[in-house]
Amino acid sequence: MTASSSNSRTLRGAVLGLGMMGRHHARLLQAMPRVTFAGAVDPGGDAHGAIRDPSLLFASLEDLLAAGGLDFAVVAVPTDEHLPAVRALADAGVHALIEKPLAGTAQDARELIACVERAGTLAAVGHVERCNPALLDLRRRVQAGDLGEVFLIATERVGPFPARIRDVGVVKDLGTHDLDLVRWIGGSSVRRVAAETQHRMGREHEDLVLATGRLVSDVAFNCVVDWLSPTKVRRTRVLGETGMLVADTLTADLTLYRNGDVTSSWDATRTLRGVSEGDMTRFALARREPLLVELEAFCDLLEGTEGTGVVTLQEGLETVIAAEAVLQAAATGHTVDMVTV
Ligand SMILES: NC(=O)c1ccc[n+]([C@@H]2O[C@H](COP(=O)([O-])OP(=O)(O)OC[C@H]3O[C@@H](n4cnc5c(N)ncnc54)[C@H](O)[C@@H]3O)[C@@H](O)[C@H]2O)c1
Repeated sequence: MTASSSNSRTLRGAVLGLGMMGRHHARLLQAMPRVTFAGAVDPGGDAHGAIRDPSLLFASLEDLLAAGGLDFAVVAVPTDEHLPAVRALADAGVHALIEKPLAGTAQDARELIACVERAGTLAAVGHVERCNPALLDLRRRVQAGDLGEVFLIATERVGPFPARIRDVGVVKDLGTHDLDLVRWIGGSSVRRVAAETQHRMGREHEDLVLATGRLVSDVAFNCVVDWLSPTKVRRTRVLGETGMLVADTLTADLTLYRNGDVTSSWDATRTLRGVSEGDMTRFALARREPLLVELEAFCDLLEGTEGTGVVTLQEGLETVIAAEAVLQAAATGHTVDMVTV
């Protein structure tokens, strides 16, 4: 089902939740020529001054739906509230772009998917890192074989604790970015994972995780994620036969470090001297705001465009399942084999 049969009509879009993420969606939706901003819902009001027309701030989703004519909504409420919000939207025939992670538990994620499938509406997950220019170019180069055979995808996502997050720990909040990225870049599902966590801030949930595992494709991965570091780092490193690509998603920079002295064969180099430093290239990338790229792709989907690259609900579910496996591995001290999850 597409939202508009012709491109002459703008899409009517709204935002649920005007917090840290929702306010940016609202800012962009109000500026996109192809979208008519239909309003926002937040029981806490418009605390960040995101809505230009105060008459478009609604106290409840019921009020927004009663105003009528809604094509889609961005769900940016706390993760544990994704399911009831998406259920209500689906029941009303409204399409949904759901902030990541898809839901707080795999059970909720499955239920959410069932609601959307029953309603026949369209939905996608906002794993916005996939829209970061540095990561898009990194993945393109990996897929084009620029590194030869890839054997490691390593991510680092550390920084101070954002006090607003209460409902989930760092694995489901930040770590789901990384568990999505390693699968997206590696083009394969997680086969197994081991993990260690720390609880340093006296909260119910973990605030640091080290997750190490292997994809079905045999690529190894390692994710270091925490809310305990005094500085913010967002780095994705892919290591292959001929060198290493490093994406910094704070600055949207992508750098290629070539191995030096790669002569006739990888085996010979490794045996004799190991890898040495070769040329380093920092790529000049066109920079577009990732959240805008994500919203444009979702609108493309609603208008019936094929191959928009939006993150499907099944992919979102797979990420939540992987996050639960990480937590299980950390709690038990055992490697979790995803085939048995
Ligand atoms: N893609 C990303 O990089 C990214 C970054 C941060 C957060 N997120 C995700 O976005 C979602 C929101 O996170 P946040 O950091 O913006 O949280 P937040 O706490 O800053 O904002 C949530 C807002 O939702 C409102 N709210 C609560 N219940 C509601 C309801 N039923 N209807 C409407 N509004 C409601 C709250 O009043 C609050 O203003 C979470 O799922 C989170 O994981 C994604």
